[in-house]
Amino acid sequence: MARKKIALVGAGQIGGTLALLAGQKELGDVVLFDIMDGVPQGKALDLAETAPVEGFNAKLSGTNSYEALEGADVVIVTAGVPRKPGMSRDDLLGINLKVMEQVGAGIAKYAPKAFVICITNPLDAMVWALQKFSGLPANMVVGMAGVLDSARFRYFLSDEFGVSVEDVHAMTLGGHGDDMVPLIRYSTVGGVPLPELIKMGWTTQEKLDAIVDRTRKGGGEIVALLKTGSAFYAPAASAISMAESYLKDKKRILPVAAYLKGEFGVSDTYVGVPAMIGAGGVEKIVDLELSSEEKAGFEKSVASVKGLIEACKTIAPALA
Ligand code: APR
Repeated sequence: MARKKIALVGAGQIGGTLALLAGQKELGDVVLFDIMDGVPQGKALDLAETAPVEGFNAKLSGTNSYEALEGADVVIVTAGVPRKPGMSRDDLLGINLKVMEQVGAGIAKYAPKAFVICITNPLDAMVWALQKFSGLPANMVVGMAGVLDSARFRYFLSDEFGVSVEDVHAMTLGGHGDDMVPLIRYSTVGGVPLPELIKMGWTTQEKLDAIVDRTRKGGGEIVALLKTGSAFYAPAASAISMAESYLKDKKRILPVAAYLKGEFGVSDTYVGVPAMIGAGGVEKIVDLELSSEEKAGFEKSVASVKGLIEACKTIAPALA
C-alpha cells in the first residue's frame, strides 16, 4: 500500500512540530509548504536527518510551490501570523483572512480530495473562510481547537487530582476564545463525573471554577510566558490526533470546530462540538443536551464566532 501524503501549509513553529510528529508516528510522507524561501526546505532536511536516529520511514520535503500539495490525503494549515502579546485572536482576522484565500485556492487546485485541518487563528472564523474559499465539502474541512482546549483542561485536572492524564477525560464546547465552554458535567476522572468528585470531597466548586478559567485563558498564558510567539507543541499534537483518526478511520469522538447545519441550534457556522472523525471526515456530530447554564455559555460563544464571521464577510464580500 502506498504511503499517505500529509501536506503542511505553514512551516513555522507548529508546522515543524507537526512534521516531526507525523514522521515519528509514520503517518505518511510529509510536504512542508511556506512562502519563506529556504525555511520549509531547511526544516524538511533537518527532520529527514532525524529519521535515521529516531528510526522512522517517511519522505520529508520542503517547498514554496503549491504544486507540491498534489494528491495530499491530509492538509494541515498553520499559515498566517501568530498572536503576539497584547494582541487578541480577533486582531489577526484581516491578515489571516487573506492568507486563507490563497491557501484555499491552492487546496482547491491541488488537493481537493484531502481532509483539511485548520489551526490558524482566529480559528472558528478562519476554518469557516477556508472551507468557503476552497469549496471543499464541509465534512472534509475542520478546525483544531477543542482537542487542544480539552487537553489543557485535562492536564489541569490531572494536576489537581494527582492522577494520570490518561484517566482524565474532558470536554470543551464553543469557539476557540476566552468564552469557550469547558463542560464540567461531561468531564470525568476515572469515569467519575466532576460534580460527583465535589460530593466525594476530592475537590471544590471554587477549585474547578479556577481550572475552567485557566483553561479558557490557556492560550494567553503561554503567549505571556513565551513573549515571542504562541503555543506550538500541544496544538501540533492535537491536530495530529485528528489527522490520525481520519487516516486510520479510528472514528474517535473529538471536540473539533465543525460545520453546523442545525445541530445545537446553529447553522452555517463553524464552532467547537464533539464529532466523530473517520475515513469520511466528520462522520457524525454528537448533538448533546445542554443544561440552561451550559446553553447560555455556548450561545454567547457562538455569538462571538458569528460576529467574527460577519466581520470576514465585510472584509471579503465574496464570502457573503
Ligand atoms: N502562505 C503560506 N505560509 C504563510 C503565509 C502564506 N500566505 N503567510 C505566512 N505564512 C507562514 C509564515 O512564513 C510562517 O512560517 O506561516 C508560518 C506561521 O508560522 P509561525 O509564525 O511560527 O506560527 P505558529 O506558531 O506555527 O502558528 C501558526 O496557528 O496558533 C495559530 O494563531 C496562530 O495563526 C497562527 C498559526
